[in-house]
Amino acid sequence: MKILVTGGAGYIGSHVVVELQQHGWETVIVDDLSNAFPDVVDRISRITGKTPDFELVDLKDPQATFDLFRKYNDFQAVIHFAAHKAVGESVENPLKYYRNNILSLVNTLEAMALLNVRHIVFSSSCTVYGQPDVLPVTEETPLKEPLSPYGHTKRIGEAIINDQCQASNLQAIHLRYFNPIGAHESALIGELPTGIPDNLMPYITQTAIGKRDFLRIWGTDYNTPDGTAIRDYIHVVDLAKAHVKSLERLVNQQNSEPVEVFNLGTGTGCSVLEVVESFERTSGIKLKTQIMPRRPGDVEKVWADPTRANQILKWTAQRSLDDMTKSAWAFQKTMEVG
Ligand code: NAD
Ligand code: WQD
Repeated sequence: MKILVTGGAGYIGSHVVVELQQHGWETVIVDDLSNAFPDVVDRISRITGKTPDFELVDLKDPQATFDLFRKYNDFQAVIHFAAHKAVGESVENPLKYYRNNILSLVNTLEAMALLNVRHIVFSSSCTVYGQPDVLPVTEETPLKEPLSPYGHTKRIGEAIINDQCQASNLQAIHLRYFNPIGAHESALIGELPTGIPDNLMPYITQTAIGKRDFLRIWGTDYNTPDGTAIRDYIHVVDLAKAHVKSLERLVNQQNSEPVEVFNLGTGTGCSVLEVVESFERTSGIKLKTQIMPRRPGDVEKVWADPTRANQILKWTAQRSLDDMTKSAWAFQKTMEVG
């Protein structure tokens, strides 16, 4: 079985390729390397002993996208990660986000239709829920107006796929990720942000390694037990395993509707200070921190109800917060020695 993984050289995609290969599935990575490095292919093969095919293609280009599908001609499914994902940048440059995230998806869906590829797993995000009125968040929780152009592209991406499923024989699963952090246990792949990270975990590890002076803690006056904001952090390897379950469900035609939606989280919220404490415990390093006002656009607290994924996909997140911070630090250290 051959799976096309768009954005497969990126953070989540590379972990998913490892899991797919370890399940005996052939994978083809397509990536334009706008936010990834080519050596990830070699790193994946060092983990699995198998080298995935790699295609350097910009999915914004419809002809190149179609040529890629025609070249292989036997994809059984697509997992679509390719997108830009920096929330702040999307506010400053919305058209870059609409162009890339929407066009890449539309071109992929058009090529799939032309070559009769019937299954897609789509990377969606808890950002579609905004600040929910009731916690934890189920898949039935009403979606809120996204707070950023990036969030809009996820909401619109889901809608485009829903419409295409209505109009054709396409079958889809939307996976709404909460906050993926951590790295593969080999420390060969992980999150490698270009530039200054926005996200908490890479900022913590870069502070610990000395690349950043201190960690800013955005807000200590939230209505939470320690005053810092709460998220549902999930280990990227756990997240990756849910993609294998989702693909199995689609290709074995076990899905009950043309489009299904699953939250991927642990079901437990952790505060910023709890993540910092976990990092300090697992690394033995005391982080320099500075209390700052709230970051504009941040929600106070959000965590998943993952019951549907637990029951229907038969998937549960296994790894603890300490596993997440420990593996993220191991990866950061590996990257520093080269
Ligand atoms: P990432 O930036 O590491 O991976 C995305 C990959 O897509 C990169 O390798 C990039 O080079 C590639 N890409 C981007 N545009 C492309 C194009 N036009 N053609 C070909 N390749 C292209 O990001 P990630 O964290 O691995 O996220 C993967 C997906 O999951 C994204 O769709 C993101 O929006 C979604 N998501 C991420 C998070 C998170 O916190 N990391 C949370 C929810 C959803
Ligand atoms: C987590 C918490 C920050 C950095 C983003 C996207 C979301 C999804 C996941 C893709 C917050 C605090 C952070 C720092 C801090 N991505 N923080 N100091 O904002 O929950 O979600 O990534 O779909 O759409 O919005 O993740 O890691 O940026 O922040 O105090 O230097 O850590 O304020 O409370 P977020 P994050």
